[in-house]
Amino acid sequence: MSYPTQRPRRLRRTPAMRRLVSETSLAPRQLVLPMFVRENAAEPRTVPSMPGVVQHSMESLRKAVVEAVEAGVGGLMLFAIPEHKDARGSGAYHPEGALNSAIREVVAEVGDATVVMADLCLDEFTDHGHCGLLTADGTVDNDATLDAYQEMARAQAEAGVHVVGPSGMMDGQVAAVREALDGAGHSDVAILAYAAKYASAFYGPFRDAVESTLSGDRRTYQQDPANVVEALREVRLDVEEGADIVMVKPAMSYLDVVARVRSAVDVPVAAYQVSGEYAMVEAAAANGWIDRDRAVLESLGAIRRAGAEIILTYWAVEAARYLRNS
Ligand code: PBG
Repeated sequence: MSYPTQRPRRLRRTPAMRRLVSETSLAPRQLVLPMFVRENAAEPRTVPSMPGVVQHSMESLRKAVVEAVEAGVGGLMLFAIPEHKDARGSGAYHPEGALNSAIREVVAEVGDATVVMADLCLDEFTDHGHCGLLTADGTVDNDATLDAYQEMARAQAEAGVHVVGPSGMMDGQVAAVREALDGAGHSDVAILAYAAKYASAFYGPFRDAVESTLSGDRRTYQQDPANVVEALREVRLDVEEGADIVMVKPAMSYLDVVARVRSAVDVPVAAYQVSGEYAMVEAAAANGWIDRDRAVLESLGAIRRAGAEIILTYWAVEAARYLRNS
């Protein structure tokens, strides 16, 4: 019998030793909470496929953002469900539209205590459910959509948003949004670009949350899950166009993409742990099949380890509270 001279277990022997050699850390400031607000809702409504997540009323939204700030989260990402949808997504541009009103309320509530972000995309606002405007034959019109995104960016900036998150995967969207913001005197509003966004099955519960009316799919604008080189190109273009932060989405099935993107760019990298990733863990935990709290922290730690400095997650407040108390 020859005994090992190399013994990695020495560094795992006690909690103190494990803490000393831990390579990855996670802090509340790195977590961003996505939030949904429903126009003219009197009460918050549950989202059945996302236990613990609600469509807020304006009043419950205000309360929830105060709690999120108290927990120390790094930011909030706002989404809205408008009462009326149409082909152009008119609600997206109207100063009193669901999302722009929410931005105004939230910024008034939190000031600079956290970073207020808004999704910049048409899918919640269009009756056809696509992220862009359609031509007469029903295909998504890239360049007409860029004009719409410019209008939406100006409206969000006027409402006081700190960061816009263009998420429609139209070509040239970051340059268009940057130009619109700068032209309207909002050169201080930052852009978090959904740079590498995949056509993913893991967005299913989100579409319940925003009552998406999409028929068909988004494969002509979102990326093929098989591709990673394409993601590097998308990210490079977005940085060249002026993205301040680039995001990979979803997160858990795309950790290789997060790692490749982290080494390819010199801006902060975010990853979005999406609705389906949340729902999977919640559903398994509800069945008693996994330890929920450990699974949540392990998944967030893995996204950090892959290289994301910023994580959008529906567990942001809960995880932030836990991290603060531990
Ligand atoms: C587009 C948008 C989507 C999500 C965030 N922004 C939906 C989509 O692209 O189909 C998904 C987020 C999630 O699943 O948690 N506005």
